Amino acid sequence: MLREVLRKPVAKLALVLVSLMPFAWLCSAIFLDHLGPNPAEYLIRSTGDWTLRFLCITLLVTPLRVTFNIPEFLRFRRSLGLLTFFYVLLHALCYGLFDMGLEWDDIALDIVKRPFIAVGFAAAVMLSLLAVTSSNAAIKKMGVVRWRLLHRLVYAIAVLAILHFFWMRAGKNNFTEVFAYAAILGVLLGWRVWHATTRRRQSGT
Ligand code: HEM
Repeated sequence: MLREVLRKPVAKLALVLVSLMPFAWLCSAIFLDHLGPNPAEYLIRSTGDWTLRFLCITLLVTPLRVTFNIPEFLRFRRSLGLLTFFYVLLHALCYGLFDMGLEWDDIALDIVKRPFIAVGFAAAVMLSLLAVTSSNAAIKKMGVVRWRLLHRLVYAIAVLAILHFFWMRAGKNNFTEVFAYAAILGVLLGWRVWHATTRRRQSGT
C-alpha cells in the first residue's frame, strides 16, 4: 500500500509542496509583518534551521529505504537534496542582503574574518557541487564511481554544518539544539559507515 502510494508521480509533487511550506510561511510572515522585533535575524536563523532540517531528512532516506526494504524512497532523495540546496541559497541570500547589504567586498572579508561564516560558506559550496551534479546526465557524464565519490562530500557538509552552528552558538553558550542536531547527524552518518562496512565484509572485498 505505502509502496504503491510512493510510486505515484503525485507523491513527489506532494513532497515538494509540503517542503516549500516553510518558505511560503516565511513569505507570508514578511508580508504580514509577523517576524518579530528583528526580522533580518529571524529570516537568517530560520532559513539556517530549515537547511539543517532538510539535510537531516535527506540523509534519512537511505537508512529508511534499506531498513524497511522500500526502494521507492529513493525517488525522493534528489528532490530532498535540491530542497536542502534551495534553503541554503535562501539562508545565504538573507545573510548577504540583510547583514551585508549585498556588498561583495564586505562579504568576502567577512568570510575570511569570521571562521563560522567561512565554515558555512564551505558547506554551501559543497552543497552546490552536489546540486549541479544531481541530474541523470551528470551521473552518466561522470560515471557512477566518480559520482558516488563526489557525493561522499555529504559527510563533510554535515560536519561543517554542525561546526557552523556550534561556532555561531558558542558566543551565547547555548548548545542544546546544536547537540541535538549533532546527535541526529551522528547517528545518520554512523549508520552509513556501518552499512558500507557490513556490505564490504559480506562481499569479501
Ligand atoms: C550547509 C550550509 C549551512 C547550514 C546548514 C547553516 C545552518 C545555520 C544554522 C542552523 C544557523 C543557526 C540558526 C539558529 O540559531 O536557530 C545559522 C546561522 C547563521 N548562518 Fe548559516 N548555515 C549554512 C551556511 C551558511 C552560509 C553560506 C552563510 C553565509 C555566508 C551563513 C550565515 C549564517 C549567519 C549570518 C547566521 C546567523 C548568525 C547570528 O544570528 O548571529 N550560513 N546557519
